[in-house]
Amino acid sequence: MSDKLKLLLVGIGGYGAGYVMTAQNMEDEFEIAGVADPFAKNASSLDSLEDVPVFDTIEDFFAAGLTADAAVISSPIQFHCEQLEAALDHSLHVLCEKPLCADAGQAQRMLAAAAAHPGQKVLIGFQWSFSPAMLAFKRQILEGKWGRPLSIKAIVRWPRAFSYYKRNDWAGRLRDSAGRFVGDSVLSNATAHYLHNPLFMLGGAMDTAAEPSRIEAQCFRAFDIETFDTAFVKLSVPGRFGNETDVFIAVSHCTEKVAEPYVEYRFEHGTVLCAGNDRLKGTLRGEEVDFGLSAAVWKDIITKCSAFTAAHRDWKNLPAPSRRRCRN
Ligand SMILES: NC(=O)c1ccc[n+]([C@@H]2O[C@H](COP(=O)([O-])OP(=O)(O)OC[C@H]3O[C@@H](n4cnc5c(N)ncnc54)[C@H](O)[C@@H]3O)[C@@H](O)[C@H]2O)c1
Repeated sequence: MSDKLKLLLVGIGGYGAGYVMTAQNMEDEFEIAGVADPFAKNASSLDSLEDVPVFDTIEDFFAAGLTADAAVISSPIQFHCEQLEAALDHSLHVLCEKPLCADAGQAQRMLAAAAAHPGQKVLIGFQWSFSPAMLAFKRQILEGKWGRPLSIKAIVRWPRAFSYYKRNDWAGRLRDSAGRFVGDSVLSNATAHYLHNPLFMLGGAMDTAAEPSRIEAQCFRAFDIETFDTAFVKLSVPGRFGNETDVFIAVSHCTEKVAEPYVEYRFEHGTVLCAGNDRLKGTLRGEEVDFGLSAAVWKDIITKCSAFTAAHRDWKNLPAPSRRRCRN
């Protein structure tokens, strides 16, 4: 039996094209068993998938009698919930792109679906949560090396032309053209990493994120879109040291100039920065610390695919009776 992970790719255009390329480049690890994308013919990545069967939906793929081990969902946000449920129901492990979904009700459904299939792995594509550098830093935070967290600050200036909002029927919109809620904005989509990461780093365990007790936000729009393209957010995040940590986030798609994201983690015993070159480094009690690259843009999909194969390998190495009970 082949050790390769047989993938069903759900959404192969836009960001999904990176999964096509990465799965093809990691040919010792992956085999592309099929595609589910109702608009696959518009995706340039389709040209490289000559012998791969293409369907509109996950259900169509299985109705054709085909099989896979895992699904990679890189479709528009408003489809993540139903596609994750369908993939899990068909016994697939799932790597679903960020953000999780479009609203809190869908998030509850996705959590319930994952809980109802404890033998299958579910990963959400926030690449920083799989970056060895971030995980090494988080391990030290949990070990108490850095002391109490004081504040985390993230600033992202990524200007987008108006064409960015015209590339599909959901960018910058409250609902897509079929009326599905999507709530797409600078904060929920492109810079969602910088909202998720501070909460992940303040989580009480390696695989959990913290929840804010208070959220204050101001949102603005420069472009003629339905949601917003600039946001300033302040979160208060309760932690295991009994204090509240302030998290400040400023993100915009309409700054004059583009700038590399700036993220600053301040702790009782030192400060770590991820700024300019994606390197995570700082000073702990006066000594320099360098955790390495966080997960550079060109490496983000490789980082996630490697985490997915590692999760699958762990699962396969479990004795068969335990596989049904494994979590995360
Ligand atoms: N992790 C990252 O850094 C990162 C970066 C960019 C985008 N993303 C995420 O990737 C996802 C897709 O974003 P995008 O910008 O590529 O979107 P897009 O609209 O440009 O492309 C989405 C793809 O999904 C296909 N699609 C449309 N409806 C579908 C359906 N019902 N089922 C299956 N496929 C469908 C489209 O044909 C297209 O190929 C989003 O969740 C986005 O947040 C993640």
